[in-house]
Parts: sequence; structure tokens; C-alpha cells
Amino acid sequence: MSGLRWRGLLAAAAAVGALALGGCQPHKAADVDAARLTNADKDPGDWMSHGRTYAEQRYSPLDKINAANVNTLGLAWSFQLATNRGVETTPIVVDGTMYVTSAWSLVYALDAKTGKLLWQYDPKVSRAIGHNACCDVVNRGVAVWKGRVYVGTLDGRLVALDARTGAVDWSVVTVDQSKPYTITMAPRIIKGKVMLGNSGSEYGVRGYVSAYDADDGRLIWRFFTVPGDPSKPFENKAMEAAAKTWSGDWWKFGGGGSPWDSMAYDPETNLLMFGTGNGLPWDEKARSPNGGDNLYLSSIIAVDADTGQYAWHFQTTPGDSWDFDSTQTLTLADLTIDGKPRKVVMQAAKNGFFYVIDRTTGKLISAKNFVPVTWARGVDPVSGRPIEIGDDHYRNGPTVMFPSSFGAHNWHPMSFSPKTGLVYLPAQEVPGAYGTDPKFAYDPGQWNTATNTDLNTLPPDPKAKAAMINSMKGELIAWDPVAQKEAWRAVHKGPWNGGTLATGGGLVFQGTADGHFNAYDAAKGTPLWSADTYAATLSGPMTYTVGGEQYVAVGAGFGSVFYLVAGFATDNGNPLNGKIVVYKLGGAATLPKPPLIRLPFPKPPENTASPALVAQGHSTFNHYCLVCHGYDAISGGVIPDLRRSPLIGDAAGFKAVVLGGERKDQGMVSFAAELKDADAEAIRAYLIKAAVDGYAEAQPAKK
Ligand code: HEC
Repeated sequence: MSGLRWRGLLAAAAAVGALALGGCQPHKAADVDAARLTNADKDPGDWMSHGRTYAEQRYSPLDKINAANVNTLGLAWSFQLATNRGVETTPIVVDGTMYVTSAWSLVYALDAKTGKLLWQYDPKVSRAIGHNACCDVVNRGVAVWKGRVYVGTLDGRLVALDARTGAVDWSVVTVDQSKPYTITMAPRIIKGKVMLGNSGSEYGVRGYVSAYDADDGRLIWRFFTVPGDPSKPFENKAMEAAAKTWSGDWWKFGGGGSPWDSMAYDPETNLLMFGTGNGLPWDEKARSPNGGDNLYLSSIIAVDADTGQYAWHFQTTPGDSWDFDSTQTLTLADLTIDGKPRKVVMQAAKNGFFYVIDRTTGKLISAKNFVPVTWARGVDPVSGRPIEIGDDHYRNGPTVMFPSSFGAHNWHPMSFSPKTGLVYLPAQEVPGAYGTDPKFAYDPGQWNTATNTDLNTLPPDPKAKAAMINSMKGELIAWDPVAQKEAWRAVHKGPWNGGTLATGGGLVFQGTADGHFNAYDAAKGTPLWSADTYAATLSGPMTYTVGGEQYVAVGAGFGSVFYLVAGFATDNGNPLNGKIVVYKLGGAATLPKPPLIRLPFPKPPENTASPALVAQGHSTFNHYCLVCHGYDAISGGVIPDLRRSPLIGDAAGFKAVVLGGERKDQGMVSFAAELKDADAEAIRAYLIKAAVDGYAEAQPAKK
């Protein structure tokens, strides 16, 4: 299987190891300090933090590449990341060196002009940790500060590397590693403090943001996002206030609320803003039986950057029951609204509404849906609360709605151009089914949503299921945040497209799920340029200069949660190759075109199981396996498609993998603690049924 080939490639990459191949740099590496970061806007040749500046606008004033010449943009260089898992990194570039991350939290330093590898660091994350990652084993990038490169690893460490060599300077564990915490976000550095959150709100964690001393990794402050055990003293007043909005024993599971991606910083007020995730479990009634807002889930929170002290919060989805989160890009801007200058923070939230919030007070200025939204009629301008459409969080029966847990906008970073006054946001229309799960019991370390999202049981009509799947859309929307309306849109083939970059050259760059990297006229939306990347191009693009020449870079690669869960939406044949692609005017390099991997569909064993056993196996599969092996057992090709596995016809071989842990070092952990032999057999029976159906569908239609 393709797995073997990839293991070969990965081994070859690992052989290069943490060897320093560079060492002949003309200046100090990653020479970034407070003055340089605060004035990043005046240093457009470098991209020194995740969203380029503390305002996280992902706007670069660089204009050498512009609407008049972008059609001569060509490949400068590419770098193969030797992974078949998701690539979500935003490259950082300082003084001619690029720092990127890849799956399993690997870090690479590259010559930004040539793509030559300078060094590589592998934190050697145990592959078993992949089981705690809801959304693939991805990483969104590093932070740099005074000669060091900082990465948050999937297993919860914060590692500081020597920027010249990639050698470890120090490493601290930032989470209780006995709990299913992970880290996928890029750290941010403010005045010598490394700011870092975590993920895990499907599995059993209590979210928090921490500030570490960039010099030695000492913990300076920590702000929890949800209250802990109310019988113990609260950490602060914010937790005491939050606890009044919960009921029951939420703290036994952790509560969730993990701040897993976005951050922005306002030097004027010294406020650090970050977004928090969904509740644990998703269904509010299963975590807080008497309802309540469940602060500070699915919220934007502002704290003092020096002390971590609470300043304000704005909750986008009170009592979230849909996995909406509020972790999407936070973009700071100074806008003129109703004739008055306003200091705002903006978010295009997963819940479908575009929020413009006063960033000094946390008060709502305006909110408007940017795609069709069926769960709420709008946002109340006074309270800032969504006006829900009376289904009482699917209490009245199963519901199918827009948006879904995939979000109207997810982690794919949006950008804002102060030149056009428009926000460029990767939006999508992906419906979701939600129903209560009457059999839910908290299962530590497993997928704990307490929500039935299975379209096979809700809605029961197979035509409705097909219609829903076919209704999925993806688009790039240019949004006017002052008028709260769309200026233009580019329609894509499907959902789950890339982050955006806006430039002083009047351009917007965005990758697409179908393997392209495109440039548009920022004011009008006219498509101006497109290149084949031969892989889903989802990361945040960025731009920089070396020797006065402008480059545009983006990470590409399949993986990422959509290709794990929603394999049905991708065509089987995705070339699995993570990479960084970099373009310049007149670039003439060629991107190796990977062979399309078309997996054969071997004839499956005969289905002799009873429908009851198949149904039981299906439900067990949904609980334990779906998150990696795909909805309806259809894989996007990143993790094996079990319908095609010879092991479904081999009870002993199947058991050796599923219960015996035979492939644990490849990321397939043992489920012996959760499942009995009979459960594994039921799953196998379901997989045979799914294979029989899939095989029949894969045969060329008879004339
Ligand atoms: C955290 C992600 C994850 C989860 C959850 C998961 N798997 Fe896997 N599984 C993998 C990966 C990764 C591989 C590929 C391992 C390799 O490279 O050999 C795999 C491989 C397998 C294989 C071997 C397929 C083949 O032909 O090589 C079987 C069988 C399997 N999984 C069954 C299951 C079952 C059954 C469940 C649920 C009880 C499950 N898996 C849950 C990640 C997962």
C-alpha cells in the first residue's frame, strides 16, 4: 500500500535528521525583538509573526508583484515536506531565512531565495498521539524571537530551537500529558513572552492560554477558558463569574473551550485577544443539563498581555451545541463607521456571522451572516446574541442546518486590505446533521460529542442525504466590514479552500482544495493568475523579499480534517505530497507533478452478517473510527480506506491491528481498552457491507 512507500520517504527525510546543513548566514538568525515586531508594518520584506503584524491582517504592503504583471508569476522553488498528512503552516521569513512546520510538528529552516534546506527539527512526537488530534496531526507554524524559533508540538511541548542550527535550547511540557491535549497552533511572542493555547475539546480537556518566558520557558501566567471544579477555589473572578453559567458536572470532563488557533495583540491597550473552542461534549444538555451560556466557550476573550488578567469577552455562540467554536482569524483594524473612527476586532465565525467588535470594550458594533445561515435569524444588535430559530439545540428532534461543525469559515486564515477596506474570507456552505445521542456516556480520551451527526439515520431519506452532500459549496468572499456586505465573490468547485493574503500590489492570493493557487484583483475580484500546485492548498499564503525581489509562498498538502472525515467529497486519487511552493516574477522552475494515486477497489468478501450486526458495527465505527477513516468509511486517501483493506476479510489480521496495536507506531492505536472482540467483529461486518456497496458503485455502469 501507499503507506509503505511513504514510510520509505519519511525515513529518507529523517536520515537528514537535525543536521545543520547551513551555518554560513551573513547575520544573526531570527534577529527579532520587541521594536522590530511592533514596527513590523514598516518592514514589509520580512514576515516575522503568524499574521505578519500583531493586528494579524495578513496584508503586505509589497507591490512589486501587482495586477499589471502578476501574469508573469512563475515558480521560484518548491520544497517537498515528505508527508501525506495535512499542511497548515504559514511560513515565517526573517532576513532571508524561511521557517515552516509540517505534520507531526516538524520544523524546517530554508533559504528563502533558493529553498535550500538549512536545518530540520523533528520533535519525535509519539504516533499514538495522533489519536488525540480531532483534525489531523497538523501544525500552523512557528514564532521567532531573538535568535530562537518556537514550536508547539502535537504532544503539548513548547520547544525553543537555536535559529541557526535547529538545536534544542529548551523545552517545556505545557499540558498534563495524561490528558488528551494537543497543540496545532502557532505561538505568538509579545514582549518576551510566548503565548500558546491548546486543542482537545472533543476528547476531555479544560482549555487555557499560557504565557512562557521566551528566554527559559518559565511559566509566567495562565488563563483558563472554562471554570474548573466549583467546590475548589476559583483561579480568578472571571472563572467565578463563568461558573454561574454552567450546571452539572462539566468539570469532570474538562468542559472544553480550547483556544486552538487565533490570537491578535493590540499594543495600545496591551490586550491579547484569542478565540475559544466548542464545549465538551458538543451537545450542551450533556455537559450542562440546565443550559446556560457556558462561558467562555465559543468566545473571543481579551486579557492583559503582561498578567493574563481578564479584560472582556464576547461570546459568539452562547451554550454552543454545534461545535461552532470562535477560534477563527481575529483581525484588528481601524475603521470609520457611521463617521466615527473605531478600533475593531473582526471575526468571520464558524457559526456563519461576520462580527465587528470594539476591541477596547468587547462590545458588538455589528454582525451579519456572510453565507446562508439556518440556525439563527440574525444577531441582536443590543445583546450581541444570535436570534436562534426555535429548535432548542436539536431538543425537538434531529435537525439539518447550515453551517455545520466544518464551519462557514474554519481555521483557513482570512486577510484584510487597508487599501480596499475589504476582508478576504474563505467561506463555505457545508450542511450538518445534529441529533441527540441517547446512549452517550463519557468515554475518557475518545471522541465525546454526545451528538448524532450520522446522515444515514438523520434525515432517514437517502435522497435528502445526496442532496445535502451535493449542496456543499466553497467561495472566496470579499467582505466590506463597514457596510457588512459582500463586494465580490469567486466561486470554487467545493468547500475547504485556502487562507488568503492581500497585498499592496492590489492582489488577493488564495489556494484551493482542488490543487490551485490563484491571484485576484483585490478591488474587483477579476481572476488574474492561477498555478497548479497538485495538492490541496489550504494554508495561509505570505509574501516577502530577498535582495529586493518579491516572493509569494504557500504550503500545500492533503490531510487536514476535511480529507479525513469527508472522503466522500474528494475524488479518490489525491496525490499525497506536502510541500512549500514559492513564486516570483519570471520564475521558471517546474513543480514535480506527482503521479495520481488511484487506489484499486478489490472485490470484497461476501456480506453474510445480519443487518442488526451491521448497524451495531456502523454505530461503533462512528464513535471510534470515523474521525480518521471517514464518514461512511469512505477515506479521502490520507488514512487507509478500510473498504479496500484486505484485512476486512481476515478476522485475525483485523483484530491484530484494531485490538493488538500492530500498527501503533504508524498512528493506528490499539482500541483494546475500549472494544471487545465482538465489537471489532461488528465493525468488520459493517466494513464488509460498506465495501460491498462501494465496490458496486465503483464498477463501470452496465450498458
Ligand atoms: C487517530 C486516527 C485513527 C483512528 C481513530 C483509527 N485509525 Fe485505523 N488507522 C489509522 C492510520 C494512520 C492507519 C495507517 C497505519 C499504517 O500506516 O499502517 C490505520 C490503519 C488501520 C487499519 C489497517 C488497514 C490496512 O489495510 O492497512 C485498520 C484495519 C484500521 N486502521 C482499523 C481501524 C478501526 C476499526 C478503527 C476504530 C475502532 C480505527 N482504525 C480508528 C488511524 C486511525
